[in-house]
Amino acid sequence: MTTPNLSRRGATAPSSPIRRLTPYADAAKARGVVVHHLNIGQPDLHTVSPMRAAYARFADEVIAYSPSEGYLYYRKALAAYYNQLTGDAPPIDPSQILVTVGGSEALLFTIAAACDPGDEILVAEPYYTNYAGFSHMLGVGVVPVATHASESFAIPPDRVRAAITPRTRAFVVPSPGNPTGMVLSADDLRALGRVCQDANIFFVVDEVYREFVYPEPPVPADSPIPTALAGALDGALALAPSVLAIPELAAHAVVIDSVSKRYSACGARVGCLVTRNPDFYAACLKFAQARLSPPTVDQFAAAAALTTPQPEMRAMIDAYRARRDLIVAGLNQIPGVSCPTPTGAFYLVTDLPVADAEDFCIFMLRDFNLAGETVMMAPAEGFYATPGAGRHQVRIAYVLAPDKLTRCLEILRAGLSAYAQRTNSAA
Ligand SMILES: Cc1ncc(COP(=O)(O)O)c(C=O)c1O
Repeated sequence: MTTPNLSRRGATAPSSPIRRLTPYADAAKARGVVVHHLNIGQPDLHTVSPMRAAYARFADEVIAYSPSEGYLYYRKALAAYYNQLTGDAPPIDPSQILVTVGGSEALLFTIAAACDPGDEILVAEPYYTNYAGFSHMLGVGVVPVATHASESFAIPPDRVRAAITPRTRAFVVPSPGNPTGMVLSADDLRALGRVCQDANIFFVVDEVYREFVYPEPPVPADSPIPTALAGALDGALALAPSVLAIPELAAHAVVIDSVSKRYSACGARVGCLVTRNPDFYAACLKFAQARLSPPTVDQFAAAAALTTPQPEMRAMIDAYRARRDLIVAGLNQIPGVSCPTPTGAFYLVTDLPVADAEDFCIFMLRDFNLAGETVMMAPAEGFYATPGAGRHQVRIAYVLAPDKLTRCLEILRAGLSAYAQRTNSAA
């Protein structure tokens, strides 16, 4: 029997480096091995309480479509939230917010509205892999701008400028970053924004981890990220600087956002894009009208999430900070491991003393366990477009409780030593 041909884009879609090793993890579990997942950013912390209460309260007799751009009550509440970030820039109006199915759909709409097939986006490498996944769906090329662990994954504006070609339509960057945990300062945003403005391309800042920043008090007066740190001192939440605070970028800036991580609600599937560019908004709204509606019940819950008491948010942020401190210190104590300290999100990219991190990650799942337990990590090579880059690295999501992370460190240390012995005896 013949089967219809897949499209070239379907046949060549990249697989997720986060999930690629899942068959090995499933096989380990089938053998009775406990697999600790450090590969995926699925937080274990409870979804914030106002959101859970809202789900329990929802009582509409018809779960209707919502407006394509999202409910006005939710966009009004979001506008009030964004207007804490805008500083001296003009306030955000609900008409500049488009509610989407997760941050993922906001990315898809954004790349589709900025690029035609054959166009390119720039990304700082290592990058969030779905930037490449969505670009591939749209026939858009992804051009990497190298960043390095030795430079704390900073993004030099000149490196971005040098990578721009006539086909470049946007620079897409997460801050705080996935997979690196790097946070752009207000000055960084301004400098990178200027590069985008000069080249007349969109500056897409993915701010889904905005709350997850770990400034180290006391703050020096000349701190390069005063906006991020300001709140930490007076007890308010510290927030990563937002591109929405830069009025000159009104035509070029697009913010990607989501409730997934902020409220520990990845399954709620509510995100949004924010832009002061009315033409860009209008294009995205047409895409949104074609998919009809973002989720109705989840918007109700997401609006409630915005009322989460500050102590509850702070407890979540403090939990991630403690985990970061634990895992970074633990990793750097393992012989041959060197890991920079991320300042945001809940990921890190670390070098391991192995020639091929994917082979090592497979070894951990297929050939190794410590008293019946092992760890699953994401080989970092899949977060790079440059061939061979990231081969010695893994990405770790520190989304497990401290006792589990401590156990993961023991397992990793033992696994590295067993792997080195095996490699030596094979040589
Ligand atoms: C940087 C970044 N952007 C966007 C997303 C999309 O998240 P969601 O579609 O759950 O909102 C994620 C999810 O991991 C992410 O890490």
